[in-house]
Amino acid sequence: MRQLEIKLSNSAYKIIIEDGLLSHLSFYIKEIYKNKKIYILTDDKVEGLYLNQALDSLRNDFDVDYVVIPNGEESKSISTYASVCEQLIEKGIKRNHLLLALGGGVIGDLCGFVAATLYRGIPYVGIPTSLLSQMDSSIGGKTGIDFAGRKNILGAFKQPSMVLIDPKTLDTLDEREFNNGMGELIKHGAIGNYKLLKMLDNKPKITEDIIYESLTVKKRVVELDEFDLKERMTLNFGHTFGHAIELKYGYKHGEAVAIGMLMAINMGVDLGVTDKSCYNDILKVLKLYNLPIEHYDYKEYLKDILFDKKNIAGTINFIFLTELGKCVIYKLTEEEIKERF
Ligand code: GLY
Repeated sequence: MRQLEIKLSNSAYKIIIEDGLLSHLSFYIKEIYKNKKIYILTDDKVEGLYLNQALDSLRNDFDVDYVVIPNGEESKSISTYASVCEQLIEKGIKRNHLLLALGGGVIGDLCGFVAATLYRGIPYVGIPTSLLSQMDSSIGGKTGIDFAGRKNILGAFKQPSMVLIDPKTLDTLDEREFNNGMGELIKHGAIGNYKLLKMLDNKPKITEDIIYESLTVKKRVVELDEFDLKERMTLNFGHTFGHAIELKYGYKHGEAVAIGMLMAINMGVDLGVTDKSCYNDILKVLKLYNLPIEHYDYKEYLKDILFDKKNIAGTINFIFLTELGKCVIYKLTEEEIKERF
């Protein structure tokens, strides 16, 4: 078992990483929750894989009910949000009850948003079952849904009361979905943990230790910058360009981040910020996990990213590696981009 604690201005919570943890959820949840009633939110794919195990591991200590939504990004919608709230209210949820998010990123983001807004806030625990959500969205309290054709446009910061990660859930991911999560894990190594990148050298099984090392990077930046105004932006390495190609070419998120990292390295090298050797080192580890490494010319995508929602008053915060395991936030104005590229 490995554990981390995220310490924020008004809250602190543990992340527990343990093989087989799903079969004794009560043990950890009793630490942070003293009432009886628990509601699980899950999707119809995870339902078949892990819901019974979760229910069995809670029933001795808690009175558990659940809501199941369709699997997939379409469920991060205002209609599914409304339906989940309605069902929970019908089932008698109170503001001192606990919600559990059992599933991948969609479940975590939606459940967190329900927890942030229902009765102006109820506690929730994240139980991320995909590598992508274990690496990223389940930590740090960003919650939300898609709206008006844009991703995560309605949302709130709502920190979980605890995050419970069972690496055994990775066994049921198909290869592409597993590698999708590896995109974010490799990113953590690239921006903040050289040792983690080295641990991946021989394509090892993803263990408690590797997940732990990856999450130390997210912990550090989230603690420094809970509301994503400075250090936390470094998590966007590979995302600025990644977002520009993700929907356009139908990549999964971690796949787009993989290509986006290579594009950002090329731009960083051209600006004299990034050490040239980073390209081949990152390429090598992306190849190990069958992540896409197609060449896209970053200059062709600079126009698209000027319209991204993260741009504040015409300034783009690029994240560039300086060397492997280290990065910087590099601001460029719209004018500077037009002049230099
Ligand atoms: N997914 C990036 C962050 O949590 O800030």
